[in-house]
Amino acid sequence: MTQQPKLMLPGPVDVWDETLVALGQKVRSNFTDDWGPIQEETIGYLKQIFQTQNDIFILTAAGSGAVEMGVASLFSRGEKVAAINNGPFAWRAIEILRAYDLEVVDIENGWGCGADLEQVEAALAQHPDVAGLVVVANETGTGVRNPVQELAALAHARNLPILVDAVSGMGGYDLPVDQWGLDLVCTSSNKALEVPPGLGFVSVSERAWELIDAKQAKGGRGWYYNLSNWKQYRGQGRYAPTTMATSMIMGLHASLKRIIEVETLQGHWARYAWAQEAVRTGLRNIGFEMLAPDDVASFTVTAVCKHPSMAHEQEVRDFLAAKHNFTVSGTWGKTTGQAFRVSHMGRAGSKEYLLPFLLGIEDFLRTEKGIDVPMGASLVGMALPGY
Ligand SMILES: Cc1ncc(COP(=O)(O)O)c(C=O)c1O
Repeated sequence: MTQQPKLMLPGPVDVWDETLVALGQKVRSNFTDDWGPIQEETIGYLKQIFQTQNDIFILTAAGSGAVEMGVASLFSRGEKVAAINNGPFAWRAIEILRAYDLEVVDIENGWGCGADLEQVEAALAQHPDVAGLVVVANETGTGVRNPVQELAALAHARNLPILVDAVSGMGGYDLPVDQWGLDLVCTSSNKALEVPPGLGFVSVSERAWELIDAKQAKGGRGWYYNLSNWKQYRGQGRYAPTTMATSMIMGLHASLKRIIEVETLQGHWARYAWAQEAVRTGLRNIGFEMLAPDDVASFTVTAVCKHPSMAHEQEVRDFLAAKHNFTVSGTWGKTTGQAFRVSHMGRAGSKEYLLPFLLGIEDFLRTEKGIDVPMGASLVGMALPGY
């Protein structure tokens, strides 16, 4: 059997051995009493990761499903919703809003830039009738971190809820849901929580519940992606309205236990920040530029602009796949061909992966481009603190 490629993708990510072991256990039922402690402990870990006392639900869904649940539950057909538009997943959120017949106030700024607070403030002032603000915390497509705390403050100053797509953010850096008053926060299993794809998560604040309950009274809110329905089932002592993805939750439980009890949440963030810095410093040292400026750079993924010697970013990804057994992402939409993306999540954010990965990029410049890169020049950031 050929060796499976190592994933340097911003999802799915390569997970740790204890998670793989937990995923392989005998299948459990969520309808028997022995499930309760596993679910409760898992929710307890999630609350620590989200830094919240809010309700958290575990769905069988992709990240987009979690965002869809937030949109479907919080807003009503025909309402206006403001959305920050600065990357492909921001665009995905806008598509979901439009699929629910919502009118979008599209606050567009450059891909590769963080949200512009003055522009957002002006858009909210111009549209005082919006029902809420939607933002992607960490724009995975460009490697940009948006100023979620400040955006939440702008929304709350107008008594609006904020819906945060934290799919590639939550768990990867400090995103304190309660401290920042984030109303609906959506994420998924296969990013910084270091579990395979398949689970979505939504946290719901008191303010969000009030709005959701009021809207539920109008009806027509769907069934699975409807938080009111989940609340009703919870009232009957059920964790979900449907059969749950119990094996995936066993894997999630193992991964969160590792993060919280072994690595510690702060240690987990520090490892990602270390990997971010090691990639940025190392690749800059061999002639690459980063798509996002340092002050808004993501801790979970870095978009690296193609080297001046390259016509298309795909060249380096093909080389790494063929010669070094790494799978790396490109970019799409407005940045197609311009940058490749390096994940810092899961095993990608470890010395075991990063060292051969960076040496592989040096190898590309030397053998494919004839550039005289000193051996090890890309490793200058590896000794930085944090891991
Ligand atoms: C920020 C963000 N939002 C939404 C999604 C969509 O997640 P999924 O592909 O699991 O639906 C992704 C996926 O990478 C993402 O990074």
